[in-house]
Amino acid sequence: MKWQSYILLLFGLGTVVVSRSFEYYDAVVVGGGPAGLVMASRLSENPDVKVLLLENGPETYLNEDIMTPRYASRLQGSAFSWNFTSIPQPTLDGAAPSLAQGNGLGGGTAINIMAYCRGSASVFDEWANISGIDELRWENLVDYFEMSTNLFVPSDRNYQQIIDTTYYGRDHVNVSYESSGQRVAVDAAFVDTWVANGAQDADLTSGEGIGMIVGGPHSVTHPESTRSYAYPAYGLQLAARSNVELLHSSRVTKINFDGKKAVGVDFVDLLNNETHSILSKETIISAGAINSPRLLLLSGIGPKDHLTEVGIRTVVDSPEVGSNFFDHHYTVMMFNATPDIITSLQLGDPATLAEFLAEYKANGTGPLSTPGGSSFFAERLSDDLLDSLGVNVSFPKSLPADRPHLLYQYTSAAMLPAPDDANAVSVFAALVQPEAPGTVRLNSSDWRDDPLLDTNYFGSESDMAIALYGYKRLLTMMRSDTMKSVRVNEIYPGMNVSSDEDIKAALNQAARSFHHPAGACSLGRVLDQSFRVKGVENLRVVDSSAIPSLPTCHLQSSTYAVAEVAAAILKKEMNI
Ligand SMILES: Cc1cc2nc3c(=O)[nH]c(=O)nc-3n(C[C@H](O)[C@H](O)[C@H](O)COP(=O)(O)OP(=O)(O)OC[C@H]3O[C@@H](n4cnc5c(N)ncnc54)[C@H](O)[C@@H]3O)c2cc1C
Ligand SMILES: *[C@@H]1O[C@H](CO)[C@@H](O)[C@H](O)[C@H]1NC(C)=O
Ligand SMILES: *[C@@H]1O[C@H](CO)[C@@H](O)[C@H](O)[C@H]1NC(C)=O
Ligand SMILES: *[C@@H]1O[C@H](CO)[C@@H](O)[C@H](O)[C@H]1NC(C)=O
Ligand SMILES: *[C@@H]1O[C@H](CO)[C@@H](O)[C@H](O)[C@H]1NC(C)=O
Ligand SMILES: *[C@@H]1O[C@H](CO)[C@@H](O)[C@H](O)[C@H]1NC(C)=O
Ligand SMILES: *[C@@H]1O[C@H](CO)[C@@H](O)[C@H](O)[C@H]1NC(C)=O
Ligand SMILES: *[C@@H]1O[C@H](CO)[C@@H](O)[C@H](O)[C@H]1NC(C)=O
Ligand SMILES: *[C@@H]1O[C@H](CO)[C@@H](O)[C@H](O)[C@H]1NC(C)=O
Repeated sequence: MKWQSYILLLFGLGTVVVSRSFEYYDAVVVGGGPAGLVMASRLSENPDVKVLLLENGPETYLNEDIMTPRYASRLQGSAFSWNFTSIPQPTLDGAAPSLAQGNGLGGGTAINIMAYCRGSASVFDEWANISGIDELRWENLVDYFEMSTNLFVPSDRNYQQIIDTTYYGRDHVNVSYESSGQRVAVDAAFVDTWVANGAQDADLTSGEGIGMIVGGPHSVTHPESTRSYAYPAYGLQLAARSNVELLHSSRVTKINFDGKKAVGVDFVDLLNNETHSILSKETIISAGAINSPRLLLLSGIGPKDHLTEVGIRTVVDSPEVGSNFFDHHYTVMMFNATPDIITSLQLGDPATLAEFLAEYKANGTGPLSTPGGSSFFAERLSDDLLDSLGVNVSFPKSLPADRPHLLYQYTSAAMLPAPDDANAVSVFAALVQPEAPGTVRLNSSDWRDDPLLDTNYFGSESDMAIALYGYKRLLTMMRSDTMKSVRVNEIYPGMNVSSDEDIKAALNQAARSFHHPAGACSLGRVLDQSFRVKGVENLRVVDSSAIPSLPTCHLQSSTYAVAEVAAAILKKEMNI
């Protein structure tokens, strides 16, 4: 039988069979975020291996809003974002925070805030324990962190920071510390404040999780100060390889099976709404923390009772798909800064913006050259302090000693509604090791319907107690003398808010996602040691959803490194 008629029999006549360059692929990769691009790039290093990558969103390269660090805040809710929201959270009195994700070549790395951090080593050791993959242990994973990065440390630094350059390689994502011309003016006050509250300088990319890091670092290319992200880092150069194709504006709607063997996917070409089927030996899902579990569920892989409830035939009962859904959550406060501090207010003035744009284009410096924040501080709460919170704190106390509980960071823009004339700086306190998992579920069997995302914000007694403690501590820090030189007045929650009850009410309205979701197709639960979905053949999940538990800071570094590990495993197994 010819392969075309085979497909028509398999998938029915409603489907157009696509013959791209090849009739049959060795690997189809779903999603062009950091994980998907690493996979497509590594697998296609062998010219005999035919690879197709399908990405839902548009082309992204050289878009000005994407390339210019300070414009990052424009990207959520744009064509480059999935506009997800959490379902209303009972713990937040019904508030439903946004959970925007990246949409386009580069995925989240095309719209993220570019903080580059790795965090506590024990997290990666925990992943190795859960997954049985020894390469995920920190002492091994560090090779993959290095493999995916190229560090730049400018010589004209006017700040103190411990930097161990041995933890970086020479290729792919450029990670840069700030030069003096990039420094955010408000940062000095924050550094003084973090230090007055016990912070010590640390390189949070060298296996350490607790302390303060100054001068970024950011995934930014020096000296132009343009965003360095997964598409230029791993994707653009694939144009020179005839064995790999990258298609954007292509929405995968379903994984196809022959019995319990994955044989490829269906996708809709969003430019003309035609549906196509692809045949492939390996099917690799890299659609991100939300869309990967969503696609498995849509394809009949998940908890049988849930699939039955939404009317999807179960291919394999995989009860853990969509569970173990974690995210970093934070709570925001805002103050009005003195006029010398550059916020979105000044950038809204055309004459001022033109001046900053000229400096940025000429020298890669000034307010447009960074995302608007230069330092953050992660701290562990002492056992005594945790005990004093008056709730069950056995989970946060049991975390390995290198883990922080709270992380404080800021950005020179309003993150909450603010008056038009406010010169707003936002500061937030994040719960970095939440105890309570959430879930990803379908609302219906229609691939167009947004999934139901229960983030379970601050969902255990200790999660909520630490979040509240963190918010109060943040308010105390921002109301202290070390911030006096830059603070005009408090915008949110306001100086009249001080009782526990009022602070809790303020927190409900100021809780936001850090946009670091992970875990809903986790290694050790849904996946085996080869990133294969247990119970079916030839299907893998490689991305942030495969990560078993949250690291102690920002997620992109880990996503690149985990994908590099998965690619090495796959290449060995595929014998390529
Ligand atoms: C607003 C925001 C800010 C962030 N800030 C930071 C930060 O400062 N520092 C940091 O380290 N991390 C940050 N992150 C997190 C980081 O960017 C993500 O953890 C990372 O991008 C996850 O990579 P991934 O490959 O797992 O998935 P993603 O990056 O989400 O990529 C998945 C890709 O798959 C595509 N896709 C999904 N479904 C389909 C489908 N059905 N068919 C075809 N394609 C599909 C998507 O469009 C997307 O391009 C941020 C993320 C966001 C969204
Ligand atoms: C998110 O909203 C923007 C603006 O309306 C839109 O252009 C974009 O396509 C939406 N994202 C998705 C994945 O539908
Ligand atoms: C991993 O497992 C080893 C051996 O059981 C144990 O000693 C170690 O504490 C575990 N580490 C973490 C971080 O879970
Ligand atoms: C990294 O920086 C080099 C110049 O040093 C540049 O050529 C390259 O395009 C950058 N890569 C990415 C992914 O930004
Ligand atoms: C594709 O179908 C959707 C939903 O029916 C419609 O909104 C959209 O305009 C169509 N796009 C094209 C290019 O025809
Ligand atoms: C770029 O930097 C040079 C050297 O510091 C300076 O003389 C020049 O004015 C800067 N250009 C702009 C447009 O700011
Ligand atoms: C306290 O929390 C731990 C971890 O979540 C749980 O195992 C334990 O049962 C709880 N103890 C009590 C007394 O509720
Ligand atoms: C789920 O579907 C119901 C019924 O169609 C709809 O009212 C609701 O808005 C949907 N929820 C989400 C989160 O899309
Ligand atoms: C604090 O003051 C603001 C502005 O006057 C007001 O809207 C808010 O309700 C007050 N909050 C409390 C808790 O008093």
